[in-house]
Amino acid sequence: MVQIAVFGYGTVGSGVVEVLEKNKDMITKKAGTEIEVKYVLDLRDFPGDPIQEKVVHDVNVILEDPQISIICETMGGNEPAYTFSKKALLAGKSVCTSNKELVANHGPELLMLARENKCNYLFEASVGGGIPIIRPINYSLTAEKIDAITGILNGTTNYILTKMDREGADFEDVLKEAQDKGYAERNPEADVEGYDACRKIAILSSLMCGKNVKFEDIYTEGITKITAADFAYARQMDKSVKLLAMSKDYGEGYFAAVFPCMISREHPLYNVNDVFNAIFVHSNMLGDSMYYGKGAGKLPTASAVVSDVIDCARHLGRTVMCFWDEEDVKLIHKDDVERRFFVRVDETKTSPEAVEKVFGQTQILRVEGLTDEFGFVTPVMAEKTFEEKADILGGIITRIRMEE
Ligand code: HSE
Repeated sequence: MVQIAVFGYGTVGSGVVEVLEKNKDMITKKAGTEIEVKYVLDLRDFPGDPIQEKVVHDVNVILEDPQISIICETMGGNEPAYTFSKKALLAGKSVCTSNKELVANHGPELLMLARENKCNYLFEASVGGGIPIIRPINYSLTAEKIDAITGILNGTTNYILTKMDREGADFEDVLKEAQDKGYAERNPEADVEGYDACRKIAILSSLMCGKNVKFEDIYTEGITKITAADFAYARQMDKSVKLLAMSKDYGEGYFAAVFPCMISREHPLYNVNDVFNAIFVHSNMLGDSMYYGKGAGKLPTASAVVSDVIDCARHLGRTVMCFWDEEDVKLIHKDDVERRFFVRVDETKTSPEAVEKVFGQTQILRVEGLTDEFGFVTPVMAEKTFEEKADILGGIITRIRMEE
């Protein structure tokens, strides 16, 4: 039997206990041993809950118990999760986590501690919730050179953008409705400003490069400036707007970013709607592959944590390989990356003729009901060049990057 402890009995932590209970027999078979939750670490007590007798408030009880070989860290945030995870790994206990913030901040260090102490630091649930993506990158695609990862990695923003597209509604209205229904947090900043997706693409980029991509270096733009008018133009072009998190190997360096993008109906991520997440991977032998499913939620996320627990139980005393060195990657600046841009301009300040003069031949777009403005799509150009030309033109209402 393998005995484990759950750190944090919130949504995901209680989900871990539920998944282990519901699928007990099958999990025992697949792990080759029974997995029992011996402790739950939380500041609170849970009277009436089946785990009430297992609750402890002092982490040292768990860290000093030689019977515990695996920890599920489902606390979230940096501290005390960081200190607890380090201590657990130093004591030779494997840690399975859903904590994207901690993984993005301290992944290489915690992986090294796991290697040095012959245990594991696994984080399948930190990106894409229940969608298997870490294990496919680490195990299944090992014969591949991955050169691009493009993901919809945040369910809240995908829900908001899907509603804006379907209903022609504005951002603030949809956000409020999402909050009322409990789909969006009361403080939605981490989601709508792209910070959550940034942590997740930092993790995926690091696994793609085998080196450390710091989340602070990733250019991040959220969806708060996207409007119903932007979607009206997008629809006219048979496109939609999605918050994309991307990582690309340009040969001379890696680029990683999070920003809203216009994508066409043919793009594999176009039909990823509502709270669903998807990760579209391009690698040099397989070509395209895509991983789709529920990127958040109690049981999907807990299921991913438990899959890591089973992996640890199968590899007790051995570290499974994960290539993520401490060396930091210097990313290509967004200004040097080439793409098309969709632009809306104020017609009282500029004209189609001026657009042609500055940007060359472009198709002018007009949307019924939107007076005193028009839109256009630029040729492919470096972002730096776009910014220079945009300054010369003037009258720009907004610009949205386009992904082919
Ligand atoms: N707030 C996140 C989302 C939860 O909306 O996707 C999962 O990390």
